[in-house]
Amino acid sequence: MQGPTGELFTEDVLQQRPGREQIGQESYVLRGYALPWIDRVLPQLRGVLAQSPFRQMVTPGGFPLSAALSSCGELGWTTDSTGYRYSPLDPRSQQPWPAMPDTLRQLAVLAAIEAGFCDFSPDACLINRYVPGAKMSLHQDKNECNYSAPVVSVSLGMPAIFLFGGHARSDKPQRISLFHGDVVVWGGVDRLRFHGVMPIKEGVHSIMGPQRINLTFRTAG
Ligand code: SIN
Ligand code: FE2
Repeated sequence: MQGPTGELFTEDVLQQRPGREQIGQESYVLRGYALPWIDRVLPQLRGVLAQSPFRQMVTPGGFPLSAALSSCGELGWTTDSTGYRYSPLDPRSQQPWPAMPDTLRQLAVLAAIEAGFCDFSPDACLINRYVPGAKMSLHQDKNECNYSAPVVSVSLGMPAIFLFGGHARSDKPQRISLFHGDVVVWGGVDRLRFHGVMPIKEGVHSIMGPQRINLTFRTAG
């Protein structure tokens, strides 16, 4: 595939790297990319969640989200009866969200580079917790101010089927199995593609227990 500026070589190299699956023009699954980081990531995640625990948020229409949510970084994503938005404060404590731990930030920045996005500087990390049966309906990540930055998504725990759709809600999504340690990066022309998560199956993960935790890093501000 040749891009508008003739970057044939770059795209070939990106496609050939082992463990990398191209799922869109500027989107990749990096298989097991986070595995070497897990021992450092989990204590940092525990620290964040001690400060801003998971909570069930409600959509503007009054429906509880299926996944429980928290955030870290300068901005966190929230929803309530007045709408979806990023906020510098955790609405539960009215305090700033926990800082984004360095290891988490480095993981996201290096994963973005692996996928061809060389100047990613995330200011928000959403943390979603799915218990068996929890899902995420098809949606676009549209509350960020800057669509030139990619979304970097780290999967931990129970496997999931990630739905990666097109630019219209009605476009038939690809179904992509995601496992503990997989990282998905989508950006550029794919940045606003619809995506979601099928209901998580019953089970127990040997490290994470009966849950899937997903971290999504964005540049929101
Ligand atoms: C999201 O779209 O914010 C989360 C995706 C996922 O859990 O894999
Ligand atoms: Fe999303």
